[in-house]
Amino acid sequence: MCFLYKDLLIALFIARNECACNPVLFFAILSNQRSGSGWFETLLNSHINVSSNGEIFSVIERRKNASSVLLTLDTVYNLDWLNSASKNECSAAIGLKWMLNQGLMEHHKEIAEYFNRKRVSVIFLFRRNLLRRMVSLLANSYDRYAKLLNGTHKSHVHSAEEADILSKYKPTIDSTLLLDDLKDMEMRAAKVLEYFNNTRHKILYYEDLVRNPNKLKHVQEFLGLPRLELTSRQVKIHRGPLSELIQNWDDVNKTLKGTVYESFLEADY
Ligand SMILES: *[C@@H]1O[C@H](CO)[C@@H](O)[C@H](O)[C@H]1NC(C)=O
Ligand SMILES: *[C@@H]1O[C@H](CO)[C@@H](O)[C@H](O)[C@H]1NC(C)=O
Ligand SMILES: *[C@@H]1O[C@H](CO)[C@@H](O)[C@H](O)[C@H]1NC(C)=O
Ligand SMILES: *[C@@H]1O[C@H](CO)[C@@H](O)[C@H](O)[C@H]1NC(C)=O
Ligand SMILES: *[C@@H]1O[C@H](CO)[C@@H](O)[C@H](O)[C@H]1NC(C)=O
Repeated sequence: MCFLYKDLLIALFIARNECACNPVLFFAILSNQRSGSGWFETLLNSHINVSSNGEIFSVIERRKNASSVLLTLDTVYNLDWLNSASKNECSAAIGLKWMLNQGLMEHHKEIAEYFNRKRVSVIFLFRRNLLRRMVSLLANSYDRYAKLLNGTHKSHVHSAEEADILSKYKPTIDSTLLLDDLKDMEMRAAKVLEYFNNTRHKILYYEDLVRNPNKLKHVQEFLGLPRLELTSRQVKIHRGPLSELIQNWDDVNKTLKGTVYESFLEADY
């Protein structure tokens, strides 16, 4: 017999059996589209003790107002959310993936308060190279219409061949808006960090995760998980130098030269 939160006791005893006494950590991955969060979540879900329930707030109804947001969060963290990622009673970390443009910025006050009350830990996942993110955004929205892979839209792929087909499309970037767009992306990230500064959190960058396997160990530590090897079948779509991925490269190069974003031109990831 063990004593947990009173209101969860009965539910846990029915649902969690052998692991009923193991502590459960709640988390939320806060990220932006095309920043590697899909890949990151599949890595986490390859851990036997993790249930990350995906982009629950992509459904507009659930983020209509602050109360519908909090109700939805309750469903997840009271372990009532059933889908393919829900594993078994032995989940030691339970969470979801949440894009900044899915009600998070509008209702940040109520959400931060909720996170602090429920002891939800936050993982921020950002991309350092915002120009690469822009390429991925443009290519992804192009594919939504063009559907290059046998008529189906694929935002994530599982083979190098598929990745090659998708990356053949070279977007043109509006260089007159480029500096402002990059600045906006930066400001949003700074803002959300400020909003959730009092919440237990960890900041991750996609590029660091790709290059440094130790980062995933730190994530498991942060989530209080036994350390395991994590795997994903997802394949990176855009590889190689950006000069080969952008239609109007010279234009973009000229626009960013000598600005704080100049390093985005070079980095090869
Ligand atoms: C929030 O949205 C839900 C679902 O649409 C609705 O039933 C509820 O009345 C709304 N609550 C407030 C406070 O606006
Ligand atoms: C992880 O899952 C395994 C298998 O279901 C279970 O035996 C173990 O107790 C779980 N670990 C934690 C920390 O919950
Ligand atoms: C498209 O479909 C054909 C026939 O089913 C298959 O052979 C081919 O591999 C598919 N191509 C891609 C990129 O999925
Ligand atoms: C978060 O809070 C710490 C300590 O109060 C402060 O030093 C830091 O500048 C804050 N960061 C942001 C992004 O607001
Ligand atoms: C950008 O343009 C300059 C010339 O202005 C050129 O020297 C440099 O190689 C270009 N950078 C890239 C990454 O293509």
